[in-house]
Formats: sequence, structure tokens, C-alpha cells
Amino acid sequence: MQNYVDPSLAAEMRNATSERKVNALFNYMEKRGQSFYDEVVTQLEHALQCAALAQQNNASPTLITSALLHDLGHIILDEHNADKAFLDIDLNHEEIGAAYLAPFFPESVTTPIRLHVPAKRYLCATDAAYHDGLSDASKKSLIVQGGVMSEAEREAFEQIPHFQDALTLRRWDDLAKVRGLETAALETYRDIVRQCLKNEFSYRSSIGNTPRNNSTQSGNTNL
Ligand SMILES: [Fe+2]
Ligand SMILES: [Fe+2]
Repeated sequence: MQNYVDPSLAAEMRNATSERKVNALFNYMEKRGQSFYDEVVTQLEHALQCAALAQQNNASPTLITSALLHDLGHIILDEHNADKAFLDIDLNHEEIGAAYLAPFFPESVTTPIRLHVPAKRYLCATDAAYHDGLSDASKKSLIVQGGVMSEAEREAFEQIPHFQDALTLRRWDDLAKVRGLETAALETYRDIVRQCLKNEFSYRSSIGNTPRNNSTQSGNTNL
């Protein structure tokens, strides 16, 4: 059975100007992101904390945008903590979210989103401290997400463009669950998100002004 994916945001973004695309996205996140991601933070707080970590680590505009939007799949699937089955059943929010955003953003934004769950499976295989530092919710979801990656799976993962960005994003994702943390408002990211929109991004690439891509690896800490 196919899960319901809210088509309203994509409908609003389709054929809209860049400004209106960002308006639609931010309004949706403000409104629908108030549900809880876990017992500690809302979906919007989680997104803002993740984007703030990307910005603090001088990530590229595309990776900051990935960080901000990495769990949009949960929101469009209406998955949240109030639902008892949340994290018990894997609805592939990373694939759904990346595919939903693909008409509007380039692969440098959508691939780290698509890979942020496999990235957890990769890191659990390569860094024992990483696994131990995961939150209880994240350890619980690892099981339904396929468990620790095998060697063959890791080798295949390393062939995918932007896989390093996905690993970096994953570490921020795990840290972005702090109760009551003050973060910059969503509006702070307007220009960054806008410049990463496909139509804007391909124009800048064509004139040789591609956003820099100097993402840094941040360490995992206990959650
Ligand atoms: Fe996620
Ligand atoms: Fe997340």
C-alpha cells in the first residue's frame, strides 16, 4: 500500500517564481513543522538546529539547504512522534523527501537528503563510538532501516557522488536534537535556499559561479 504524500507543497512550488517557491517551502515548514520529531524537539527545531550546525561548520549553500530540508519527508508523510508507529515502520522518508524536492533542487542538495539514512548505517559500521552515541530513537529506527551496513554495501555507498556530504549531514542530524536550543529563524536561510533552487543554481553554474563546496566533518557526541 502506498503511503499518503501531501501534494500541496509541490503544487504550490511548481511553476512559481523563486521567491514564491521559498515562501511556499518556509510557510509549509513553519506550519507543519510544529509536530514533534521526538520527545525533545519539533520537526522545525530539528531542521533549524541541523542547518545551524551546517552553517557553523562553513558548509556550502547546497549542504546547508540539505541540512535544513533533510527530514521534509517526515512532514509530507505526516510522520511524527504523536503517532505510536513512528519509527516502528520505515516509510523511507529520506527517499520520499529527496524525490519530492528533486524537481526544485539539484542533486548536490537532494543526494545528501536521500543518503542521510544509509549514512547512519555506514557510520555504525565504521565507527563504534558513533553507534554508541546515537539517541534511543535513532538506535530504534536503525533496525527498521536495515541495520549496520555490510562491507559490500559500504563499497557501493562510497561510489555515490556526494556520499561524503551525506556522512557529514548525518553527524549534524544526530546532534540536532537539543531541547530549547536557541537557533536562527527559518527566514535566515532564505537567500541560501533560494540560490540553490534548480533554476537559480544552473544559471550561476553556467556563468561559472557555483556555490563553494567545502563541507567539513564534525565529530559525533553523545546525545
Ligand atoms: Fe531523517
Ligand atoms: Fe533528522
